[in-house]
Amino acid sequence: MNLNFKTAVLLVFMTMSVQGLVIAQQRTAKSYDEPFRPQLHFSPKAHWMNDPNGMVYFNHTYHLFFQYYPGATVWGPMHWGHAISKDLVHWQELPIALYPDSLGYIFSGSAVVDSNNTSGFGKNGKIPLVAIFTHHDPKGERAGTDNFQNESIAYSLNEGRTWTKYSGNPVLKNPGIRDFRDPKVMWYAKGKKWVMTLATKDRITFYSSPDLKSWTKESEFGNEIGAHGGVWECPDLFQLKLKGRSYWVLIVNLNPGGPNGGSATQYFVGQFDGKQFTPVDNSVKWLDYGPDEYAGVTWGNTGARKIFLGWMGNWNYATQVPTVMWRSAMTIPRELKLIDDKGNLLVASSPVKEIGKLSRVTFTRSNIEVRNRYVIKGLPQKLAAQYKVDLQVGSVKDAAIELTNSNNEKLIVGFNKKTDQYFIDRTNAGIHDFNKDFAGIFTAPRLSEKRSLKLTLVVDRASVELFADDGATVMTCIFFSNKPLNKLAILPASTIDVKSLTITELNSIW
Ligand code: FRU
Repeated sequence: MNLNFKTAVLLVFMTMSVQGLVIAQQRTAKSYDEPFRPQLHFSPKAHWMNDPNGMVYFNHTYHLFFQYYPGATVWGPMHWGHAISKDLVHWQELPIALYPDSLGYIFSGSAVVDSNNTSGFGKNGKIPLVAIFTHHDPKGERAGTDNFQNESIAYSLNEGRTWTKYSGNPVLKNPGIRDFRDPKVMWYAKGKKWVMTLATKDRITFYSSPDLKSWTKESEFGNEIGAHGGVWECPDLFQLKLKGRSYWVLIVNLNPGGPNGGSATQYFVGQFDGKQFTPVDNSVKWLDYGPDEYAGVTWGNTGARKIFLGWMGNWNYATQVPTVMWRSAMTIPRELKLIDDKGNLLVASSPVKEIGKLSRVTFTRSNIEVRNRYVIKGLPQKLAAQYKVDLQVGSVKDAAIELTNSNNEKLIVGFNKKTDQYFIDRTNAGIHDFNKDFAGIFTAPRLSEKRSLKLTLVVDRASVELFADDGATVMTCIFFSNKPLNKLAILPASTIDVKSLTITELNSIW
């Protein structure tokens, strides 16, 4: 190459500044300390992330794969990113697990531990992890066909570090349904077969297989029941027990059409006989009423304990939120329990107990009568940006917690007795001009009949998760305050009896 001096100097300079930029970015990425970087929640070091995928517990490790585009901080050709954790709290991001190929992008799906080697992928006694995902063919989509989403599989014999795609892909061909995706597969022990729960436009279709390679249609569910304000996506099917009785829970994510607009997670409680799902009632139930939990499903292979994780985003504005290095995070992992509140079967969620590991300092107040705005004194000036609040009020009355900062940015989380609703108000919680739907007040019904109010908030730099009445009503809400919201106050409408208030500072997971 024949370069003149000026070009050479320019090139050297450009290379140096690009390197400098990369190094600077790597430094900030390493510290996980950029503006709005979650300190309790998993987020990728860099670039775009959406749905959690392939969640499976294997050899004492929780695997989390996720929809990932390494080329930008907006959605693009989908890969499966990969992270692992021993405790559901601390995460290590690993290299990309699955790359797009000639059959298309790698859309959402699940992973199973094929302990009996039904697939035949196991070798030398090594148990295969098998991923079941949607191949989304962008060419077919552009050409206006209706069969561009098909289900495929891949296997790994080294704990998900490298994957081999099956030569017979796709294993389940699209019969001509534009939205035909997000397979969640589980072992149905009673029938000794795999069951796939697949989102097929406005309903769920169940398939079964002896070997993960050949699939037979079993039944359909839901085109006339549940919420239908948008497309059904990312389903899940699993068992939960209540007082010794077994039920099946069917999760169906929906976009748009959520209770506060955009994306949300609904569920049904019922029975499943290996072929068909039958709900116990016709009511629409939401696992999370907030604007920012989506595509949530549970980990496989965790026994009777069911742990749920969602994407903390909403398709209404996910690609516009003001982070620079990366976009979006996951929720706190949540343990799901079936509860019976006066005949109403509900799935309640609570943050997994493992986050207790992060507890630093705890501030407790008990038995106080609060008449007016009550600023919680005695907290450190520099309260960590991540903490947990537990509030119990002796009676069911208007009560709210205000989280604020020295910029007077504030987020209010509370209960409104007249409407019998919980609410989160992020109108003045920070940056919101990137999308007109972002600022606002979001509401959720109180589902519990209990005679005292119990609120748990998990607060991070850019999110709050409300678990009310032991998780009967849950709301997830992100925000972008310019400083941490580290000043707290209680806002009553009339005198309320605060039985207990605990604020627990939490360590960063990074
Ligand atoms: C849900 C979803 C899935 C799809 C994936 C693509 O957020 O639309 O249905 O598989 O995202 O990234």
